[in-house]
Amino acid sequence: MKNKILITTPIYYVNDKPHWGHAYTTVAADVLTRFFRAQGNEVFFLTGIDEHGAKVAESAEKLGKNPKTLCDENSEAYKFAWQKLGIAYDHFIRTTDKIHEERVVEFLKALKDKNAVYEKEYEGLYCVGCEKFLTEKDLVDNKCPDHKTEPKKIAEKNYFFKLTEYLDKIEKLVSKDELLIQPETAKKEVLGLFKQGLEDFSISRQKEKVKWGIDLPFSENQTVYVWVDALLNYYTGNGTKEFDAYWEKGEVVHILGKDILKFHAIFWPAMLLAAGKNIPKREFIHGFFTIDGQKMSKTLGNVIDSNEIVDKFGVDATRYLLLSQFPFGQDGDVKKEKFIERYNSDLANGLGNLVARVSTLANKHNVKDGKSEKEIGKRIKGIKETYDKDMQGFRLFEALEEVWKLIGFCDKYIEENKPWQIAEKKKLEIVLSNLLYCLSEIADLIAPFLPETSEKIKNQLKIGKSEILFPRIDKDKTI
Ligand code: MSP
Repeated sequence: MKNKILITTPIYYVNDKPHWGHAYTTVAADVLTRFFRAQGNEVFFLTGIDEHGAKVAESAEKLGKNPKTLCDENSEAYKFAWQKLGIAYDHFIRTTDKIHEERVVEFLKALKDKNAVYEKEYEGLYCVGCEKFLTEKDLVDNKCPDHKTEPKKIAEKNYFFKLTEYLDKIEKLVSKDELLIQPETAKKEVLGLFKQGLEDFSISRQKEKVKWGIDLPFSENQTVYVWVDALLNYYTGNGTKEFDAYWEKGEVVHILGKDILKFHAIFWPAMLLAAGKNIPKREFIHGFFTIDGQKMSKTLGNVIDSNEIVDKFGVDATRYLLLSQFPFGQDGDVKKEKFIERYNSDLANGLGNLVARVSTLANKHNVKDGKSEKEIGKRIKGIKETYDKDMQGFRLFEALEEVWKLIGFCDKYIEENKPWQIAEKKKLEIVLSNLLYCLSEIADLIAPFLPETSEKIKNQLKIGKSEILFPRIDKDKTI
């Protein structure tokens, strides 16, 4: 059955420029969009930036800029990076968009009307880097373990959302997979959070402390808490009726990193339930990149810039380098120096070399049509079935492995059959025809991951001219 599917990435904090980690989520979402669309589904791909809150305001102040100016500049940086990576989103949302601000106000009014919010004095430890309250238990040496800064003590009268009233319902939805949290480790983590106990959370901040935000519709001196504002981006989208239909009649799929699991798997569905809306169908939580064993951070100076990698390796190779490092859903370490090795072995010598060898031979002997013999057809069918299951399960790394198995199979087939030595025309034609068939299947399978390369291969097969897809890169070249 064909479905309407809304695929989202988190909206990224605009105080900083995009990096390898943001690129990872965005490319993965792009690959899944392309895959589900090719299967005949109607897919809407939403991404964007998170512009309000103390973190963005403080960064702008440090730079001596107005927050909106910083947002405008960095929003261009995100759009530029995504364009370089071949990301074909349907809408790029900014939380300063008028339509978004209106929808946030409308949603918060609905929460108030449904009696899901109340006012309370609160005192807590706030980490601006995380844009959330931390408890003493979360701290290491009195500091936020992620940002290595001491959280600020805040005492304010704010509006709170009655999260606790929805916890039982969400726990059931998660355990029954009606709100599917994947992979299983993430689901376990969410279920563990219910056991630890969760409290109502504040949905507003005093305007005198956080001015850079959307005005709370029912209190003059407060702005909307940045996470509430941000989560609602998924509900605003491009603000059209066509978009709303994805929430009303479709499947909503969120893709996100493990750092923001609680907000997405618990707070967000609770807010939606309270407002009488549908909840997401599926959330896929991926792991984190570390660089040489360390967290990627500006302070450590080890941030990988995806623009730079695209300039060195090309767009498709960068997409491949992002997704072929470790399984989607697990953490992994990357070494930039290893990119050249991986590029040369898998793309230049692997896929690129296979396409060049086959198309050169096919051109030389004027073989045009790909047709597989029974055994090879069976082999490909098996690979495609596993690939399909992997893609449906968002196991992008494993799906790529299947494609590379087929590439390996072709290389072996060439070595065994030695087409350059075959004298008998008919036999040579059968061998080359089998290989052409495999290539056209490979071109289809890589299409969501390497869209340009897929087109180039299809074109080469059609016009019978070969072109180098991935030129080898000198391994001593610095990157
Ligand atoms: N603005 C919030 C999200 C609001 S969504 C309603 C936020 N933004 S962020 O800029 O910090 O981006 C977080 C996301 O970026 C992570 O969830 C993850 O998808 C991605 N990554 C950031 N660093 C990463 C790595 N080092 N590795 C992999 N992904 C990472 O949180």
